[in-house]
Amino acid sequence: MMLEHEIKIPASTANSYPIRIATDILGSLRARIEADFAGYNKFVVTDENLVSAGHLQKLLGQRDVPTFIISPAGETSKNIDTAISIIEAMEKAYLGRDTLVVALGGGTVGDIAGFAAAVFKRGVPVLQIPTTTVAQADSAVGGKTGVDSILSKNAFGAFWHPVAVYIDVATLTTLEDRQFRAGLVESVKHAIIADSEYFDFLEGNLDAVLERKPEMLEKVAHWNCKIKGNVVEADPGEQNLRRILNYGHTIGHAVEAASGFELLHGEAVAIGIIAAGLIEIELGLSQPGRLDRTRGILEKLGVPVRLPRDLAQKDLIDLIKRDKKAVNKSPRFVLISEMGQVYCKDGQYAVEVAPDLVEKILDKL
Ligand code: GLY
Repeated sequence: MMLEHEIKIPASTANSYPIRIATDILGSLRARIEADFAGYNKFVVTDENLVSAGHLQKLLGQRDVPTFIISPAGETSKNIDTAISIIEAMEKAYLGRDTLVVALGGGTVGDIAGFAAAVFKRGVPVLQIPTTTVAQADSAVGGKTGVDSILSKNAFGAFWHPVAVYIDVATLTTLEDRQFRAGLVESVKHAIIADSEYFDFLEGNLDAVLERKPEMLEKVAHWNCKIKGNVVEADPGEQNLRRILNYGHTIGHAVEAASGFELLHGEAVAIGIIAAGLIEIELGLSQPGRLDRTRGILEKLGVPVRLPRDLAQKDLIDLIKRDKKAVNKSPRFVLISEMGQVYCKDGQYAVEVAPDLVEKILDKL
């Protein structure tokens, strides 16, 4: 005999969250966070770059808020040891489940802080304040959090949606030029997969964006959040549609790893976007001039559009086989059928591409 009883789990977390975009709001966010999250103790996670740029001081003012400063800044700190240190710092500050983690920084800070929030006492809310082009376009929205293992990126992770995202585009003015440009590749990616009008806008206004004109940066941030938000709303757990956000990432991730992370994520994705465009041509999915437009905007951004000479093709192929979208070591790619229109085959957005075609494309790159 088998006795059965079913437990229905009600939605335990908020099912929507606001994204607010403006210029020079860091100083006023303190009061806003206090008002919106009055019942919570606050714990800030940031990194040393945000301290040297003065952004942490701007956010906190005179207030003494327990804060964890990740050092060194960057991917090398995105590991389980940092997450443990954050959690222990929260314990040492006698914080409990009524804690709001405030993540102030780029993608690494957001990912680590979000992950620590997801596991601290089985989960406390996180508020994201992204301060880089890549975080404002991509990583702060959508609830992906995690840290790397020795073997792979985001080996430990959780979907843990933020309770709010506040974007102050003025924080981008202190961002190093190479980082600023590389992060914009995710914006180009959004335009390619979802909105040809956005691509036209980026093409026509790239100089003003690169000059970091606030009204342009606000528009770009808003466009990105709308595109990514629509995808995440439709497929939060990345069952299928959300994979389109990985356009350019099958080869991009491999190139990033094969470069020993010398290339920034956006730089590697730029090469991956060109690779996807070459595959589209081979499969008859392209139109005349389309890849030239993509190459043109990426070149103007100043990111690489060719493989660095010293990358071994064998390593790349092995890494591509390990991509999370691969099935039975067979690489899968997100492709488009026209600008702003992602290609869907048999209901799938990540489609299998023959390994010999992938090798041919790597030769051409
Ligand atoms: N960065 C891709 C995603 O959030 O799904």
